[in-house]
Amino acid sequence: MWTVKGKYIDSHGKEHDGSGLIVKVLNKADNGAYGEVKTLNIVGDLVASGKLSVDKKLLGIISKSSPVIVMSMKPGEALNRIDAFQRGDEKVKEKLTKEALALMCEEVATVAHTKGILHNDNNMGNILVTLSADKTTVISIKLVDWGAPRTYTASVTKEEALEWCKGAWPVEQWKKAWKIRVL
Ligand SMILES: Nc1ncnc2c1ncn2[C@@H]1O[C@H](COP(=O)(O)OP(=O)(O)OP(=O)(O)O)[C@@H](O)[C@H]1O
Ligand SMILES: [Mg+2]
Repeated sequence: MWTVKGKYIDSHGKEHDGSGLIVKVLNKADNGAYGEVKTLNIVGDLVASGKLSVDKKLLGIISKSSPVIVMSMKPGEALNRIDAFQRGDEKVKEKLTKEALALMCEEVATVAHTKGILHNDNNMGNILVTLSADKTTVISIKLVDWGAPRTYTASVTKEEALEWCKGAWPVEQWKKAWKIRVL
């Protein structure tokens, strides 16, 4: 993932402030990549997609012409990257995890019902969390990583999606990642 300095002008001539954008560099433009672009477009986070030419000597990692997706930058951080979570005891970790998962399932269910897309790769890294100023409570979450093939089109009621999410993503699922410190 890359950030954008300055401004980005898209193919329609629309100007975007780079600070609100993030660029995902992909290995190849396969079905998974097309699926991710399509899904991002449906959920309203797509800014552009195409190939980015970069001088290989300058960047090394990006090959001469890599497929990229430009998308809206979302606020927050994965829970296990947040200091207050890392330093917290089991009780603190459990509280924050429960709050994040509850907000996550609410959002997953709303998107599934209103947009027909089920975000189901709900590991910690794909949920950006924002804490209250005193760092004790999760106040909001954002879903990121709409990469296919783990995102399916769905036609469900909000209640159905909510029930699925709560069953598929219990606190125990995220507990597995508590000890992993993502840098
Ligand atoms: N729209 C976004 N706004 C802010 N940060 C993002 C956004 N999308 C991704 N990120 C950050 O970049 C990290 C990696 O992105 P992403 O999860 O899409 O890639 P990935 O897991 O490597 O991809 P995939 O699972 O599709 O192979 C995320 O965990 C998150 O921290
Ligand atoms: Mg991911």
